[in-house]
Amino acid sequence: MTIFVTGGAGYIGSHVIVELLAQGYDVVAADNFSNSKQEAVWRTRQVSGADFPFYEMDICDVDGVATILTAHEIDCVIHLAGLKAVGESVSKPLEYYSNNIVSTISLLTAMEECAVRKLIFSSSATVYSGDNEMPLSEESRTGNCTNPYGWTKFMCEQIMTDFSKAHKDFSVVLLRYFNPIGAHSSGMIGEDPQDIPNNLMPYIAQTAVGQLPSLSIFGDDYDTPDGTGVRDYIHVSDLATGHAAAVDYLDTQSGVSIFNLGTGKGASVLELVTAFEKAAGLKIPKKIVARRPGDLAVCYASTEKAKRELGWEAKKTIEDACADTWRWQQNKQRDSTHV
Ligand code: NAD
Ligand code: UD1
Repeated sequence: MTIFVTGGAGYIGSHVIVELLAQGYDVVAADNFSNSKQEAVWRTRQVSGADFPFYEMDICDVDGVATILTAHEIDCVIHLAGLKAVGESVSKPLEYYSNNIVSTISLLTAMEECAVRKLIFSSSATVYSGDNEMPLSEESRTGNCTNPYGWTKFMCEQIMTDFSKAHKDFSVVLLRYFNPIGAHSSGMIGEDPQDIPNNLMPYIAQTAVGQLPSLSIFGDDYDTPDGTGVRDYIHVSDLATGHAAAVDYLDTQSGVSIFNLGTGKGASVLELVTAFEKAAGLKIPKKIVARRPGDLAVCYASTEKAKRELGWEAKKTIEDACADTWRWQQNKQRDSTHV
């Protein structure tokens, strides 16, 4: 089976490709490098010990995508290409709506033209409305998104659902990721933010190597055991095995299926910082600051449906993720000082 991975040079895409190749799938990937580098493709090939065709291409290019789908006789698409910075989406809403929605419509147009009928989409826990009880199940309320990025995920889910209603032979799995962290255990691939990171884990890692002066902890007065925010941090390699499980699942299903990809367990900001300090054997400079507007106190997944229907569950711990992130961050640091 041949799988086309869009956004294949990105953080999650590179780990998904490694897992698919390890499981014996053929992979073709594309990326426009708007938030990644060519080097990530080289590193992914190194880690896999395997080659795969890669195209520098914008997924908004319907003809370009159709050419790939036909030339490689693609059976299934994993659509990870997209812009993902929440704060940037607030200041550049048109860029986010345009890129994330047009790329999805273009991809579906090319898939329709080439009769490719299986799709897996990178959605996010951000589509869940903030007023739900925890844990969040796939039936929890969606909408009331707090930023344009979240709305693009919400709208893409709707577009794919409507497309699937109109094409009964089309099947799609919407994967709602919780908080992906960590890196490949080789330390060869990982998250490589092009700007100052917004997310907690890359911020901790860059503070640990002195690239950033100090971590700001956004609030210690939440109604949580230690007062800091609680999230469901999932190792990116577990996320990757979740995609492979979704590929298998699509073989037997039609219509739209939705799965949370999380661990079902919450960890606080301070717990993650402490785990990282232990993995790295150093102290992270940190200070408590005001809450970040729009943040929830607690957010974690119900993982029952994924266990039951995909036969998948996360296996790695936040300790594993911290050790792997630290290995990756040190490798990056070494490479950058050698250039
Ligand atoms: P990433 O930025 O590392 O990867 C996305 C890749 O898509 C980048 O390499 C970028 O260059 C590429 N891209 C963007 N627009 C493109 C286009 N029009 N054509 C071709 N390539 C394009 O991000 P990631 O963390 O790997 O996320 C992958 C997907 O998962 C995204 O859709 C993101 O919204 C979603 N997601 C990520 C998280 C997270 O915390 N990382 C959480 C939930 C959902
Ligand atoms: C954010 C996005 C969400 C996206 C998710 C995964 C927001 C409001 N939400 O979620 O849409 O799907 O990332 O990419 O941006 N924290 C600090 N200091 C920091 C950074 C974060 O204390 O410098 C805290 C936050 O308050 C939160 C936790 O760490 O409690 C995790 O934050 P983050 O990594 O940004 O993820 P989310 O807010 O869960």
